[in-house]
Amino acid sequence: MNRLTVKTPNKKDYDIVITTGFEALPSEIERLDYKGRNALIVSDTNVAPIYMDSLKSVLSDCNITCNEFIFKAGEESKTKETVDLILDKMVELNFMRSDLCFALGGGVVGDITGYAASQYHRGIPFIQVPTSLLAMSDSSIGGKTGVDYKNIKNVLGAFYFPALVYMNISALNTLDDRQFYNGFAEAMKNGIIKDEHFYEWLIDSMYEICDKDADTLEELVYRSVNIKRLVVEKDPWEEGDRALLNFGHTLGHAIESCKFGTLLHGECVALGMVAAAHISYKKEMISLEEYLELRDMLVPFNLPITVDDIDVDEIIKRVGKDKKQDNAGLKFILLKKIGKAVIDRSVTEDEMREALKEIEYTDDFE
Ligand SMILES: NC(=O)c1ccc[n+]([C@@H]2O[C@H](COP(=O)([O-])OP(=O)(O)OC[C@H]3O[C@@H](n4cnc5c(N)ncnc54)[C@H](O)[C@@H]3O)[C@@H](O)[C@H]2O)c1
Ligand SMILES: [Zn+2]
Repeated sequence: MNRLTVKTPNKKDYDIVITTGFEALPSEIERLDYKGRNALIVSDTNVAPIYMDSLKSVLSDCNITCNEFIFKAGEESKTKETVDLILDKMVELNFMRSDLCFALGGGVVGDITGYAASQYHRGIPFIQVPTSLLAMSDSSIGGKTGVDYKNIKNVLGAFYFPALVYMNISALNTLDDRQFYNGFAEAMKNGIIKDEHFYEWLIDSMYEICDKDADTLEELVYRSVNIKRLVVEKDPWEEGDRALLNFGHTLGHAIESCKFGTLLHGECVALGMVAAAHISYKKEMISLEEYLELRDMLVPFNLPITVDDIDVDEIIKRVGKDKKQDNAGLKFILLKKIGKAVIDRSVTEDEMREALKEIEYTDDFE
């Protein structure tokens, strides 16, 4: 078992426990003094049939009264309406401020549940139980919660820290390959922006990762989460360097909303990373070799480096609506080298168009 503690500015430090199985959860609940409380376990239609019973069973060992709320799996459910239904359920259950929520699932479950928990009685405790690689290696840490609105990703939300993040690595065994590599993209991103040794380790461990070797995945999640921990501890409210975590996301999010339902978040982040690395190369911040290496190293992990049928004008328009655009203009994350990202405010529309041309699929792509 591995444990990390995330320090928060409001003294609500929380632990991340990385282990196999749910068996260690009751002792964590005891440590938090949550024994005997009511809980709402929020999950989706894919994860609940596999893990709900096991989670309930360990929670009953610490006298937690379990209730459940299950919504249709997928990004389409990441809406205000789903949050309202969760809040309705809490009202119906007469939930008190001391009662708690569990987010059992991927990043969608985590973002929605955290947001609902932040709203009820101005905030009740919630525990992240991430089950996807994306949620384990990235989204369950850092306290960003929220929903999509009017086709704009994560535009409604709150910073709200979990009381605990409990990762059962064995859950990755039931995740399908596409979702697995989707999550891998965020882990790779964490290496690219902050830690070249981790990036190199990921490349060196390619076979073990693709084989889903348990020890390798535990190390991958631990190292990825630790990078994110250091970033969010230094800048919890994204006033500075936390924005580096958005590497690949400026164009990635815009592509994601334009291709809604066809490409996954991590796949769009991979495309966005290629585009951002291309801009970094064009601005002579990284070499052609570094750009090509970064691009080509996504391929063995089944991540896209080109995309067909994109509407460049629409993507550019959506970048403008993205919250990474503030009063001082567009905040773009570029690379100085692999392992060192920087915030850049000089990226022009033409540079973005050129980068989008680079990732647009053509038959003669070499
Ligand atoms: N809050 C943050 O800091 C942050 C960071 C990155 C991404 N995100 C958000 O996370 C979301 C993407 O997360 P995701 O990729 O986990 O999406 P997801 O929650 O939709 O999960 C992906 C799919 O895998 C299924 N699944 C999850 N765990 C499983 C398991 N163990 N076995 C079988 N199936 C399983 C889910 O049911 C779903 O169909 C996006 O909405 C993105 O915006 C948030
Ligand atoms: Zn992301």
